[in-house]
Amino acid sequence: MVLPALSVPADAQPPPRPELLAVRGVSLRFGGLAVLSTVDLTVRAGEIHGLVGPNGAGKTSLFNCISGLYRPQAGSINLDGADLLRCPPHRLAGLGLARTFQHPILDQHTSVLENVLTGTYTCQDSAAVGRVFHPRSALREKDRRRQKARALLAYSGLIDVEDQSPGTLPHAEQKRVELVRALLAEPKLLLLDEPAGGLVHSEVDELGELIRRIRDDHGVTVLLVEHHMGLISSITDHVHVLAEGRNVTAGTAAEVQRHPAVIESYLGSAP
Ligand SMILES: Nc1ncnc2c1ncn2[C@@H]1O[C@H](COP(=O)(O)OP(=O)(O)OP(=O)(O)O)[C@@H](O)[C@H]1O
Ligand SMILES: [Mg+2]
Repeated sequence: MVLPALSVPADAQPPPRPELLAVRGVSLRFGGLAVLSTVDLTVRAGEIHGLVGPNGAGKTSLFNCISGLYRPQAGSINLDGADLLRCPPHRLAGLGLARTFQHPILDQHTSVLENVLTGTYTCQDSAAVGRVFHPRSALREKDRRRQKARALLAYSGLIDVEDQSPGTLPHAEQKRVELVRALLAEPKLLLLDEPAGGLVHSEVDELGELIRRIRDDHGVTVLLVEHHMGLISSITDHVHVLAEGRNVTAGTAAEVQRHPAVIESYLGSAP
């Protein structure tokens, strides 16, 4: 029997990617100050997702809630089905979460390579027990991490400075060291807080290319806080806009840039 060929309409949309991060109704207060009010955000696997908004909108505070530094008073945050608000912060890396900070936090008294190697243990109890009872396998693991760190430094154009102190590097390279440190944890979701802050035009273009390669080559989903709208437009699949701790709008970069509140924030006047 010959089956008829299945016809697919020319304008058929691919099925949506699965949700990786689901932030629902998150509210955060410090005393009388409402920093986040019922914020919702969905990041799908494989996306580069932008998070934008004016200064003080609550972008870093939301990152701090996702990464366990702040504990919101209401709402839920799920990563690939795991309830992050029920998880102690030191276990979040083991669940596939890594981040960089708005202002790089690097130890100037040691080398770039040692900085990258710091903070990559995922604090899984079984691994720690294994290190005590099987020192040889612990050494092999240490060696593997070191090799991986050096491969990532090469991938990011930093291998020539692996032995230098981060303080001797230009600002753009210091920011990349932090990014490599986060990548070494093999995250599913990478939170980048203003990675283009303080970078000149050509450095922003290189950074955009690197973030895209990280997504494509390593399968890492990226949530990116940025004021640089050129970077947001060129690399994001979706963008979420926050202002004064509240959801404003979401959509593609082109869509959100047509929203009056975004025009007001970034161009100084509504249409
Ligand atoms: N630990 C804290 N204690 C009190 N207030 C805080 C704390 N952390 C953040 N805030 C306040 O929350 C608000 C949002 O700050 P946040 O740093 O999240 O903004 P942002 O969107 O990241 O801004 P920017 O673009 O300038 O980095 C600000 O009013 C800030 O002062
Ligand atoms: Mg911030």
